[in-house]
Amino acid sequence: MQRGLLLIIILAMFASLSCRRDQPVFETDEDDSTVIPETIKEGYSDYFITGVAISNAQINGEEPQAMEIVKEQFTSITAENDMKWEYMEPTEGSFYYDDADLHLAFAEENDLTMIGHTLVWHSQLPSWVRSITDSATLVTVMKNHIDSVVGKYAGRVHGWDVINEAFEYDGSFRDTVFYKYIGESFFEQAFAAAQAADSTAELYYNDYSMTSSGKKETVINMIEHLQEKDIRIDAVCMQGHWTLTSPSVEVIEQSIIDYYNAGVKVIISELDVTVLDQNNDADPYVDGLPDDVATDLAERYAALFSLFKKHEEKIARVTLWGVHDGQSWKNYSPYSGRTDYPLLFDRDYEKKACFYSTLEAAPK
Ligand code: XIL
Repeated sequence: MQRGLLLIIILAMFASLSCRRDQPVFETDEDDSTVIPETIKEGYSDYFITGVAISNAQINGEEPQAMEIVKEQFTSITAENDMKWEYMEPTEGSFYYDDADLHLAFAEENDLTMIGHTLVWHSQLPSWVRSITDSATLVTVMKNHIDSVVGKYAGRVHGWDVINEAFEYDGSFRDTVFYKYIGESFFEQAFAAAQAADSTAELYYNDYSMTSSGKKETVINMIEHLQEKDIRIDAVCMQGHWTLTSPSVEVIEQSIIDYYNAGVKVIISELDVTVLDQNNDADPYVDGLPDDVATDLAERYAALFSLFKKHEEKIARVTLWGVHDGQSWKNYSPYSGRTDYPLLFDRDYEKKACFYSTLEAAPK
């Protein structure tokens, strides 16, 4: 009689233990897919290339802590400034490669994918180019620049931003020296020259406000125009200089789908999320980012990376525009002397709440 009771108690204990196995907490611990990754590259490299922009000071060894973060967290680098025309060909026909060489060397030593930024852009363009006023000279100069720079690094740069920011918000052509004196054909001439200089490099168009319907329509027309002429364009880059609320995730999603449907991959090439008002020079967070704003930023980053993950087959790369907040151009654009918090690491190279929320969004 007593032995029977003992048996019932033991059986009941086993039953309760096995019941626990069905409880969600236990399931979560055992389920590999919910393990939170520890680095951005661990979390996202299965979906797309994970990149970051490196400053001139960083590549010249002035910020070893930043370079450790790059090696630990990312699989690709872009020179934030060092491969732009004003640095690479400051005077006609005389090329400066030293800093670009450092980026290439760092990328190759650490098995990082090197992105070339950027070949034809109205900004950070030396004055000797801006002052050219005849079409034939400008075509020659543009082709020579592309041929020299792309040719120099042929086989070593994964992809080039061939043309940068050629359109206004409404989709009309920006009044640059290239458009003014060469006309719309500077697009096909630049892409064809890049393709000729390195047939293995991917070729991109890179711009901001890529969700604007006018700009989107023009960019898609341009993609189709190049394709009709058998000139390759592999991806369009949505820069991703976004705010806490704008553009909405839905609007970004529709743009990713629309560009992809035009026959190219999509790259988020310069991601940062400003917490400051872009329409006035207020600098409210000099003493630190309040917790509620840090939480909004963390939620925004998680929502963005969830969206990128959802469209992994359309997205080739996501690149953060800087390693840490202290480096970010948002501290001096559109207003100088401000204190912004747009990136995943803070000014002391510490991981921010938005870093952790981004990792939490990674598992399938
Ligand atoms: C910015 C850099 O981050 C700054 O350091 C520099 O002073 C100006 O350019 N679009 C681009 C990038 O394609 O090259 C720009 O980078 C940001 C906007």
